Amino acid sequence: MKLSIIGTGYVGLTTGACFAEVGHEVTCVDNNEEKVKTLLEGKIPIFEPGLEDLVKRNVAAGRLKFTTSTADGVRDGDVVFIAVPTPPQPDGSVDLSFIEKVAREIAESLKPEYGFRVIVDKSTVPVKTGSKVEETVRRYAPEGVEFSVASNPEFLREGCAVDDLLNPDRVVFGVNNDAAADMMRRIYDPFNAPVLVTDIESAELIKHAANSFLALKISYINAVARVCEKSGADIEKVAEGIGMDARIGRQFLNAGLGYGGSCFPKDVKAFINISESLGYPFELLKQVESINEDQRSLFLSRIREKLWVLQEKKIALWGLAFKQNTDDVRESVAIKLANDMMAEGADLTGWDPQGMETAKRFGNLHESFTYGEDMYACLDGAEALVIGTEWPEFANADLEEIKKRMRTPLIFDGRNLYDPEVMAAHGIEYHSIGRASV
Ligand code: UDX
Repeated sequence: MKLSIIGTGYVGLTTGACFAEVGHEVTCVDNNEEKVKTLLEGKIPIFEPGLEDLVKRNVAAGRLKFTTSTADGVRDGDVVFIAVPTPPQPDGSVDLSFIEKVAREIAESLKPEYGFRVIVDKSTVPVKTGSKVEETVRRYAPEGVEFSVASNPEFLREGCAVDDLLNPDRVVFGVNNDAAADMMRRIYDPFNAPVLVTDIESAELIKHAANSFLALKISYINAVARVCEKSGADIEKVAEGIGMDARIGRQFLNAGLGYGGSCFPKDVKAFINISESLGYPFELLKQVESINEDQRSLFLSRIREKLWVLQEKKIALWGLAFKQNTDDVRESVAIKLANDMMAEGADLTGWDPQGMETAKRFGNLHESFTYGEDMYACLDGAEALVIGTEWPEFANADLEEIKKRMRTPLIFDGRNLYDPEVMAAHGIEYHSIGRASV
């Protein structure tokens, strides 16, 4: 099929590349000329395993094109996806101005001779955005154009976006017309995934409800971790034990510093805001947020308890990205924790396998922060090592090397990467989340 995607951010670019990979002809549109130029050269503006190869291969095969012209996208795509940012506003509501602008541009580019077009919201949007997009397109489109609006939320995770897209657990789309449903089905036929077709409002709500549920799972296990700390139980065992129940499942029960990233914090806030505006105060989700925030401050109190004063203490930080396998530092808990410690005068040196450049550009780290030369170099002379991100490199670190380099072998692990017994055997003082310290 001929598809267009407006917006080549995380979702737009990976979705476009994966649609091309399964054989569709895809035009990706972005108003950032520099970005389009980079993409045409086969370079990827983000770190995402497997994406660069996918883009190169499909550009070479002529199935994937990039342009700055929305009009070209609307001309070339029977189905036009909107995948532009929906950032949070200071009051927690969602800024829909990019969606509105693109809806207008699409409307102004539609022509009656193009025939039937489906305009699909892929961005995460509040329920009822679809009907606003439909109203907008109708208002600005010329007489006689035929179109329908659909909602097709995306569930990809950064770091495994290509695999999530090519092998999805499920595909959800919301439509209000059979012709649109048929076209959406044909797009997803090659993916061999279970498909759920709903009305537009339900599809929109599924995305917010799914992300909020996953965030709830994380806050739940973090709350249980607090009880473990007070009772001498081990959160890893508790998570394993409850996760073996198929109704609960082990995934997203990793206790730690809490969730970050461009999705969960924003989406939970938005869902609270949307529910409130519809007349339902979603108290449960407010608790999810507050447990998440407290998780970091409780961890900081434990660091403070041990180091007494942070002023002038040399601390190493492993991890800047908001999670493993990404260079994304948006809403990174590791960075927030680093800034908290530096606000108390700590002398921080940090390292991340992929997030160094993005942290320098977008991390808003306190100016006193030092970027380490490598993972071990930032340990030299440190009085404590703080682990903020769950990278496998850190989990597989050479413990003797850590010990050798540090002034005092003391680790605060915010991601539970090590076995406390192994740490004890190496003579390293170890504090983690929801487990007894050794
Ligand atoms: C998430 C959803 O998983 C995805 O379906 C949606 O489309 C976008 O939002 P993403 O933000 O890429 O994806 O990352 P994810 O792997 O879900 O992790 C989010 C945050 O939760 C990270 O900060 C991670 O460290 C944290 N997390 C995750 C935990 O603290 N514990 C866990 O058990 C899992």
